[in-house]
Amino acid sequence: MKVNITETVLRDANQSLIATRMPFSDFEGILETLDNAGYYSLECWGGATFDSCLRYLDEDPWERLRKIKAVCKKTPLQMLIRGQNILGYKHYPDDVVRLFCRKAAENGMDIFRIFDALNDFRNIEVCIDEVKKCGKHAQGCICYTTSPVHTIEKYVEMGKELEKMNVDSIAIKDMAGICSPKEAYDLVKALKGAVKVPIFFHTHHTTGLGAMTLMKAVEAGCDGIDCAISTFGGGTSQPATESMDYALGQFGYESGLDRDKLKEIADYFKPIRKRFLDEGRLNPEVMGIKADILKYQVPGGMLSNMIANLKDLNALDKFDDALAEIPAVRKDMGYPPLVTPLSQMVGNQAVQNVLTGTKYKTISKEIKAYLRGEYGRAPGEVSQELIDQCWKPEELVQGRFADSLEPAFEKTKAELGKKARSDEDVLSYIAFPQVAEKFFEAREEKESNTVNYTIEKKED
Ligand code: CO
Repeated sequence: MKVNITETVLRDANQSLIATRMPFSDFEGILETLDNAGYYSLECWGGATFDSCLRYLDEDPWERLRKIKAVCKKTPLQMLIRGQNILGYKHYPDDVVRLFCRKAAENGMDIFRIFDALNDFRNIEVCIDEVKKCGKHAQGCICYTTSPVHTIEKYVEMGKELEKMNVDSIAIKDMAGICSPKEAYDLVKALKGAVKVPIFFHTHHTTGLGAMTLMKAVEAGCDGIDCAISTFGGGTSQPATESMDYALGQFGYESGLDRDKLKEIADYFKPIRKRFLDEGRLNPEVMGIKADILKYQVPGGMLSNMIANLKDLNALDKFDDALAEIPAVRKDMGYPPLVTPLSQMVGNQAVQNVLTGTKYKTISKEIKAYLRGEYGRAPGEVSQELIDQCWKPEELVQGRFADSLEPAFEKTKAELGKKARSDEDVLSYIAFPQVAEKFFEAREEKESNTVNYTIEKKED
């Protein structure tokens, strides 16, 4: 039996353990080995990588992609894309979404893992369509969460819907790492019985369940799993590639991975891991097991965010009350999956409700936008009382929010003029305006310095 393994060291492991601070120069020397190790795909782009390249690493994310592709010619490259939100948290018009997918494909992307935080598939439709038009692999996502409305039947319905949308495969995205081995087994089993396309499973090892969850998912017929090479695996990252391959191998599953190459990859990242540890960028804290997540059923990032919030407000003693308020807020909001930014929105509202002593005395502008329908359709029923508190019926979004947005690419390109040197630059700017602008300015400066330097050289 074949099991496909995706390596996440270049994206999710990097994002989960060291806030996506690994520069290209750190992994350049191991790309060829990664390409020859036999992975199903290399996840290397999307999510925070794009932002971090521009903001902290002085790298053009598009150039990074081209440089990876120049070496990794055999193994498909994979990215994570938030459907209509592309890489951020707001909706973009269709022309931008389409061009982004096309440019990503042209620059070397092969597999697009496409998700919407609310599992509102109207928000991934355009993305899937464009990826298919580019002749690339469109992987539709089901964001996993637990709530009274997130039943196995509901997930199976979602799987069927994705298959109808012509996806090449389906990923179960357990971004919070809360899916237990039993839940994974039952979910994959049910999906495999209902759809024909391959199923992939993504989780995090945060609660210590990750490896068991992947094992049971594979036992239930899952076609592929995400792992991270041991030196960047475990903790809030993915279960370790070598350990999963070893355990699955004994049960007769063939990953096709070359174990000598895996050792080479793990060894290569050892000094890099050590450097991030020494610099304090890799906090040993993230490697521990957070069993609290199982008790509260909320992602670790959300818990630490709430603690930080309460600390700032000098109200850490209200932590238990705020935690107890979460289920109520989630219910009122129609049970959104707890993924960024919804997890923070729900957490902050719970804190506010507890601190003010009156429910929804203050409501953030993000939650107001959510209630208006700007994020899409909630999985469950949203409290009508809460909607009425913020909006008149005629103000609510009808249909798909992106339909109300004007095309933006050509207009932005004209506005940017010479600052943008390519369509890719324009897309970087649309995704992260201030950050991209600073990056463009620094690039100009660097190049003019290079010219000056050459002239000076000539003079002496
Ligand atoms: Co993840």
